[in-house]
Amino acid sequence: MNNSSPCTVRVRGLAKAFGPNKVLKHVDLTVGKGEVVVIMGPSGSGKTTFIRSLNFLEMPDQGSIEICGIELDEPLTLRPGEVRKKIFQIRQKTAMVFQSFNLFPHRTALQNVIEGLISVKGFDKEKAQQRGMLLLQKVGLSEKADAYPGKLSGGQKQRVAIARALAMEPEVILFDEPTSALDPELRDEVLGVMRDLAKEGITMLVVTHETRFARDVADRIVFMEGGHVIEDTTPSHFFGPTVSERCKQFLGRIHE
Ligand SMILES: Nc1ncnc2c1ncn2[C@@H]1O[C@H](COP(=O)(O)OP(=O)(O)OP(=O)(O)O)[C@@H](O)[C@H]1O
Ligand SMILES: [Mg+2]
Repeated sequence: MNNSSPCTVRVRGLAKAFGPNKVLKHVDLTVGKGEVVVIMGPSGSGKTTFIRSLNFLEMPDQGSIEICGIELDEPLTLRPGEVRKKIFQIRQKTAMVFQSFNLFPHRTALQNVIEGLISVKGFDKEKAQQRGMLLLQKVGLSEKADAYPGKLSGGQKQRVAIARALAMEPEVILFDEPTSALDPELRDEVLGVMRDLAKEGITMLVVTHETRFARDVADRIVFMEGGHVIEDTTPSHFFGPTVSERCKQFLGRIHE
C-alpha cells in the first residue's frame, strides 16, 4: 500500500522544444501530497507535453523534476545509466491515464488491469486476479471483468484504464484529458471515479476542461499558455470575477 511519507511533485525551470518549437519555456510547479491540481490552457499550450514530461514519456531539455524525493536535475547532464534508474524509480511512483484509454484490445478488462501487477510487480496470477477484481469493483465494473475493450463503452474503457493505473499503487496519478474523447453522458461516470480518488487523498494532476470537476474537486487550477504557467490559483479565484482577462476570455470560449 502507499506509504505515508511526504510525496511532493516539484518541477523547476522545465523546458522542452520540438525542433524550433519551444513548447515549454520555463515551467515551475509544486504539488503537495494529496493535492488535486487541474491544468487548463488553450490547445497547443504544452499541457500534454508537460504531463508526459513528468514521467519522462517526453525527455525535458532543461530543468528539474522531483517526485517523492527522487530528483532528476538537468537530466541531460547525467550518465544514461543514472538517468534510466531515476526514470524507473519515478515511474514506480506515478501512473498515467490518457485521453485515448490505451487498453490492450486483445486482453479482457481484468487482464488489462493485472498486466502490470504480474509483469512489473511480480504478483502470481491468482493474487493479481484477486486484486484486479477489487479494483474493477472500485470503478464499478466487476461484471465486465471478462469483457474485451471492443465490447466496452468509452466510459467503461476509461474506468478500466483508471483501475489499471491504480493497480500499480502510484503516489501520483497524471490524467491527460481523461474525458474529452467521451460523449457527455459517459463523462460523469469517469469523473465520479476521479472524485472518489481525490477524496482518498491520492495526488492528482489533471489536464481537463471539465469546469464543474475543476471547481468542485481541484485544490488549485494552473493555467498554461505560451510555454509558461500564467496562473496558479484557487478555483474560487480562477472562476471568479477577479481572475485575469486572459483566463476569463479562455473560460468564455470553453463555455460556448
Ligand atoms: N512529439 C512531438 N513532436 C513534435 N511536436 C510536438 C510533439 N508533441 C507535441 N508537439 C507540439 O508541441 C506543441 C504543444 O503540444 P501539446 O500536445 O503539449 O499541447 P496541448 O496543450 O496538450 O494541446 P491540446 O489541448 O490540443 O491537447 C504543439 O505545437 C505540438 O504540435
Ligand atoms: Mg493535450
